[in-house]
Amino acid sequence: MIIGITTTKGGAGKTTVTINIATGLANKGYDVCIVDADEGQFSALKWASYREDEYKHIQVVRVQAEKLNREALELSKRYDIVLIDGRPTLSEVGDRIVMASDAIIIPIMPSAFDLESFQEYIPRYQQVRSLKVDIGGDVKAYALLNGLVGSSNISAEVMEAVTQIADMHDDVHVMKTSLKRRVIYSSSITNGLGVVEDTDKKAIAEVEALTDEIIEIINQNKRS
Ligand SMILES: Nc1ncnc2c1ncn2[C@@H]1O[C@H](COP(=O)(O)OP(=O)(O)OP(=O)(O)O)[C@@H](O)[C@H]1O
Ligand SMILES: [Mg+2]
Repeated sequence: MIIGITTTKGGAGKTTVTINIATGLANKGYDVCIVDADEGQFSALKWASYREDEYKHIQVVRVQAEKLNREALELSKRYDIVLIDGRPTLSEVGDRIVMASDAIIIPIMPSAFDLESFQEYIPRYQQVRSLKVDIGGDVKAYALLNGLVGSSNISAEVMEAVTQIADMHDDVHVMKTSLKRRVIYSSSITNGLGVVEDTDKKAIAEVEALTDEIIEIINQNKRS
């Protein structure tokens, strides 16, 4: 299965979410590959270079945008799961990620800008999805609230707005799990780790819940 982590909003947590799903799945025995489609930054590739050999191996590869579809498909034959770390633009690369993926995850931070980007992105995603459906494929979108701050009003407001928007579209869902704002998300990446391999128990529980939800999506995809 191929899962793209994509949004037009910069800094929403695409790379953080990709790495944490990858390490969450790898530590449950899945063979995982990350495609770093963020040419220019290559953050996932940099993370792989910080990672020590004693941790579960996660292959991170760079793929040219033009070859994304074909190469992701090839990789999905060799790995249980391929994750594509996307680029923050409303562009062809973003469209190619949707085209290549069985599911996309759209990370959304609790801000008005993130919410607006999410709203603007839905018609673009749906346009690509309809092309995919026309050729006999499909893709589902899952919004993932990331960087929520305790009981802040803005977190609750954005969560509610995202849920309302998703309710209006059959092909957009909201993930049950959300991720809180925690320093460990940045510090673990600096050490080549995922949060599940680090020391913050609350963060570990959060990422394990996210991983379990991803496994449900993987199993649903196998059945369909
Ligand atoms: N849940 C979180 N808690 C705390 N910090 C976070 C969280 N998620 C992401 N961050 C931090 O926010 C910043 C942006 O995250 P990240 O690089 O994953 O976003 P991105 O969407 O991949 O960015 P870009 O659009 O540049 O590719 C990073 O410094 C990261 O450590
Ligand atoms: Mg990134």
